[in-house]
Amino acid sequence: MNTSSLAEFGQKLLETYFKKPSMADKVFSNRFLDKLSQIESLFDHIYSQHPSRNNAFDGLLTTLIKQHKSRSSLFLKKDATKTKKGNWFLSNEITGMSLYVDRFAGDLKGLADKLGYFHELGVNFLHLMPVFESPINESDGGYAVSNFKKVAAQFGENSDLHALIKRMNEQRMYLMLDIVLNHTSNQHEWALKAKAGNPYYQDFFYFYDDRSLPDQFDQTMPEVFPDHTPGNFTFIPECNKWVMTVFHRYQWDLNYSNPELLVAMLDNILFYANMGVDVLRLDAPAFIWKQPGTTSQNLPKAHMLLRLIKQCVSVVSPGMALLGEAIVAPEEILKYFGTQQTIGSECDLAYNATQMALQWDALATGDTSVMIAGQQVISQKPIGCSWISYTRCHDDIGLGYDDYMIAQAGFNPFHHRSFLKNHYAGWHENSMAKGALFSVNHKTNDARISGSLASLCGLEKAIELSNQDEIELALKKIILMQAHGLFMGGIPMLFYGDEMGYTNDYSYLKDEGKSYDNRWMHRPLIDWKRNEKRLDPATLEGRIFGDTQKLITLRKELSILSDHNNVIWMTPHNVHMAGFIRTEEDKKLYCLFNYAASASYLTWYAFKEFGAQPTHLKDLWTGQKHKVGKDQEHFILPSFGFALLEMAD
Ligand code: GLC
Repeated sequence: MNTSSLAEFGQKLLETYFKKPSMADKVFSNRFLDKLSQIESLFDHIYSQHPSRNNAFDGLLTTLIKQHKSRSSLFLKKDATKTKKGNWFLSNEITGMSLYVDRFAGDLKGLADKLGYFHELGVNFLHLMPVFESPINESDGGYAVSNFKKVAAQFGENSDLHALIKRMNEQRMYLMLDIVLNHTSNQHEWALKAKAGNPYYQDFFYFYDDRSLPDQFDQTMPEVFPDHTPGNFTFIPECNKWVMTVFHRYQWDLNYSNPELLVAMLDNILFYANMGVDVLRLDAPAFIWKQPGTTSQNLPKAHMLLRLIKQCVSVVSPGMALLGEAIVAPEEILKYFGTQQTIGSECDLAYNATQMALQWDALATGDTSVMIAGQQVISQKPIGCSWISYTRCHDDIGLGYDDYMIAQAGFNPFHHRSFLKNHYAGWHENSMAKGALFSVNHKTNDARISGSLASLCGLEKAIELSNQDEIELALKKIILMQAHGLFMGGIPMLFYGDEMGYTNDYSYLKDEGKSYDNRWMHRPLIDWKRNEKRLDPATLEGRIFGDTQKLITLRKELSILSDHNNVIWMTPHNVHMAGFIRTEEDKKLYCLFNYAASASYLTWYAFKEFGAQPTHLKDLWTGQKHKVGKDQEHFILPSFGFALLEMAD
């Protein structure tokens, strides 16, 4: 459509829905008309040739209008406040925690009763792992959704989720939920209808009559779970067809080349927006476009779809930020923020998976060179977008940074990765870590790592051995890792249990719905009796909780830690130490992390390389004041220690 007839069409559509438009309807209508041509252009880039193009485009526009009509006044108001603030998620005042509702607090009502715990710790942003219906034994931790709009019975009801969100809003807390974009459970009604032979719903998935296309895809598509789910297709005897299943066999990939499917998923996305979600985590967005002859990951059309989703979201729910969960190669992650002219019009946030893995690299080797090599890419994050910064999450740790980064640091990539895997699996004789390899691919030798923060830092083994020195070292490593994540930039996202030093939980081995997936070892069941120990600073739990709390409090007090791309890496004068400067106008905060098991020395010269030269520095962590010495004299950090040095007089 040309621009004026499109505007006319949009105007007419709005008039049929708004007989007496309210102020909020008018604001919405302006946004709708403003974005209409961009929405149409993105839509047509993907679907102009599709036979359902017109029907689906109308469906998309009416979905936007209808979802706006069901947006509550509370969230309309919040939209206005957030829009006024701009990129609210860049703030240093936000600290998140990711958790399983049932494993943390039983159910949603239980979680609502635990909000005080988060305030005590300083957490004001919650990522609830999926709470919508999902078959108990084939659930992938909730990532196999059978009903996007109904809370699963074990967590409570939709009304409990609404009540929790209301309380969180009253207490100025932010919420993140997932939209599992790439697939549904094979028990979702779309899948059931497809299985029963309904062609309309078969077209919501990738169905094939024989193996010819699946074989073609399989030649170039990597496997996500090569050990327990090899291949990317599953045979469905009920309809005698093959369906694409990139993740588990019970997770059927959605077919976004069908615009009707996109509209149906958009409706789910906006349903979450209307629940009051502040950040929507787009699960596995790298996979949403498939093409034979490619890896079917990170394809240009996947990015285009995300941009289309972003435009639609910004019409109905302008304050809701999008997090792209793209755990892919470093350069590819950056593309989820948009590229060139599209920067800022795709995802607002992405996981800093590269930095996370590089910290684990440095912790095992005591050498920060690979981390430094990785910064060339990480630092290209566009202004206005931000990271989710984390050390552990519910997933495995993938050593997904590039070989050239390892080579640039002077190591052999193959041997380096083998060392890291051996180290964290606890196979290396000097390693105190106790993790496990996840998704070992015997064809490529690839593997990722499972294990909790505490166990990977050596706490579990040290306790088993009653080795007090190793326990002390493990505690230092835990806090070093957390401090680095919290001060590096982006929204820090703690993983529940880590604030208390929970070690691996092996009970998953007795549960048939979980035993095939060792990621469950680091998804603990919270014991609230044990959590009382946080109040006793003489306990391990009390020490870890207290230090984590102190880090969060410090972060909140320092506006210099807001993410305005204000990170300058210091020249790497000492390979054991990672150092960067956070800046704000003429203020500087030197953040230094020693990844070595012994004390590390840094010449005072290193502090004088950028901008104004400090004469005195105050360590905000220890309270200690330092007089900046002569160029060749040293600042010393103890083993696995860190310093947060503010310029002082
Ligand atoms: C994401 C989730 C992971 C899940 C996968 C499939 O990567 O974080 O837990 O297994 O998507 O949904």
